[in-house]
Order: sequence, then C-alpha cells, then structure tokens
Amino acid sequence: MSSYVRRVIRENLKKYVGGEQRIPKGAIKLNQNENEYPTSPHVISTLINYLKNNDLRRYPEQDSETLKDKLARCYNLKSEQITIGNGSDEVIANVFKTIVDKGDLVTSTNPTYGMFKIYAIEAGANYYEVDLNDDYTIPIDKLINVRGKLTAVTNPNSPTGVFTKISELEKLAKGLQGYGVLLIDETYVDFTRDNALRLINKYDNVIIARTFSKSFSLAGIRLGFGIGNEDLIEWIEVVRNPYNIGTLNQIAAIAALEDYTYVKKNIERIIEEREFLKKKLRELGFYVYPSEGNFLFIKCKTVEDAKNIVNFLKSKNIYVRYFGDNPKIADSIRITVGTHEINIKVLQALEEYLQNYRIK
Ligand SMILES: Cc1ncc(COP(=O)(O)O)c(C=O)c1O
Repeated sequence: MSSYVRRVIRENLKKYVGGEQRIPKGAIKLNQNENEYPTSPHVISTLINYLKNNDLRRYPEQDSETLKDKLARCYNLKSEQITIGNGSDEVIANVFKTIVDKGDLVTSTNPTYGMFKIYAIEAGANYYEVDLNDDYTIPIDKLINVRGKLTAVTNPNSPTGVFTKISELEKLAKGLQGYGVLLIDETYVDFTRDNALRLINKYDNVIIARTFSKSFSLAGIRLGFGIGNEDLIEWIEVVRNPYNIGTLNQIAAIAALEDYTYVKKNIERIIEEREFLKKKLRELGFYVYPSEGNFLFIKCKTVEDAKNIVNFLKSKNIYVRYFGDNPKIADSIRITVGTHEINIKVLQALEEYLQNYRIK
C-alpha cells in the first residue's frame, strides 16, 4: 500500500522511464544510446573460457580491485581515485548518498539526465534546475550562483549531445570549491573532443562518472566507474554496497580494456556515422543539435510533428526516444547513431514521412 511509502517519494516522484525494450524482433532500436557495433569478441571468449574453467560459487572481489588497477593503468590514475558501480547509474547514486543530506540543495540543468532528480528527492534534498544557455551549453555562472551542495551536470549533455568546454566546467568547479561538489556525468565522453579528467588532481570537489555501456558495447554488464579525489572516493566506498559488481561483469570489463583497439575503432566509426547522419538530417530540413555523443537530438516543427515522427518511425519498426514529459523538449526526438545500413533506413523513413505524411 502506498501509505507505507515515504511521503517525499510518493508525492514527488514517478518511475524513470527509459527507452522501450520490449520491441518486435528485428526492429531497429535507437532509443537507449546503446552501441550498434557488437561487444568485443575478446570479451565474449574471455567469459566463455572463464565459465569453462570456473563456477560461480565464490563472491566476486568485494572492491573490484583488479578492475580498478587496470582502469588506473589505462587512465593514468591511482586506484584510490576510482570507485566502481553497477552502471554509471550506481556511481551517481553513491555520490548522492555520500554528499547529499536532507534539506541540501542539489542543482542541475534542464534538460539533463532524468535520474539526478530521483536521487536528489530520494535523499530528501531540494532539487533545482537551471535552464541551459541558448546554445544549449551548461550555464556556469548561474550554477555557481545557486551554490548547490551537489551540482550534477552531464557532458556532453543528454539528450541534446551538446558539449560544454572543460575550461567552463573548471570555472564551475572553482566556483563551488569549499562549498559544493561538482558531479560531471561523462557517460558519452568517448565520442567527444575532450574530457574533464585533468580536473581531478586540481580540484578536490570534482567527481566524474563514466560507463562501459556506450563506447564499449557493454550496456548488458552494467559497469560504470567514478573518478575523483582520493578522500571523496574513500567515503563513497563506505556507502557502496559490498560485492556490487558480479564476477563475470568484472572479468568482462577487464577484457574490454585489454581490447581497447577494437573499442576505439567502433568509436571512430560511430563519430563518422554521426557526422554523416547529421549532415543528411540537416539536408532534410531538420534542426540538429551539434551533438558530441553517440546520438543526435533533432528539433521537429511542432510537438505534434515530433509525436507523429516517433509513431511513423515505430510503424516502420524503428524505435527512437521521445521526451514528451518535458515541455522544453517535447518538440524534439533523440536518435542513437546506428551502423551505416541502419542510418540509411532511418533517413529513408524520415524522407518518406516528410514527403507523404507531414502536416503542412
Ligand atoms: C546521461 C546518462 N547518464 C547515465 C546513464 C546511465 O548509464 P549506465 O548504463 O552506465 O548506468 C545514462 C544512460 O543512458 C545516461 O544517458
């Protein structure tokens, strides 16, 4: 019965709705920004070999130490600067658990990643969103002025894909230092021109969240990692569930890092395809945001037009993401970049819609 549920949750929250997953077999799925290129064959064979020679009766490493050491070597960090989560989602949740007290102010932007609000309200915080700048970059000065105990931003932003320069984020870190923590969600960072890693050794209030879900083609293993100042990370490790990462997940992530050449090649292909798709969509007359993620956000003529496009694409077995709940972006749709073959199908469907079905 809902009367058992905490009032703050009952009265303020709705379940996060991600992209539709139960879709017809063979449909084109571009609604969760997954990677359309397959998981590294090295990851698959490592998992198979492991299971041929071991069973799963033992607990996994409690703190994923081997994976942390591997990440530390790959990203030139200390293991003590890393925390591992069940997807970047758990890393983000653990940051909230560590930093946010009841009554604290948590700030973010509109639009942004939908889970920030849920974690903030769940912690009993006041949650405040600042509109993005007109060019959809992060409004640094406004966020500094609001002085959140925790400020959470996504760079490149989701769902727009727009990238904010690291020098700007540095200004934000500096502005909040001594008062608040800056969480930079870098879920899509591998598809961008730059990243915020260099801020970690300079600012004790910056935490970066990353994931294996996108660039590594490993959304199914739920593996994310957080990077930050050793002291903050030590406290995040206090609230993290022990054994939060299964043995197979840890092994898969390590194998993926061993095969980074494969991952890198897919990243390059996705960036190339993103630019191709963007150019073609613009030729069709859409406003396309300058995305640096593995997805494109396109503005349609009206809210109605956006809904019609989503439904038309669905009728063609193409699933894209629509954020109709947010009036600020209800006239837009988000499309994950596919392989060339998939992108051509998307373009053909959109062309058909524009020629025959768009209400003039
Ligand atoms: C901006 C953003 N942050 C975090 C996540 C969660 O990713 P993960 O699969 O690592 O939990 C997503 C997932 O799509 C996302 O878009």
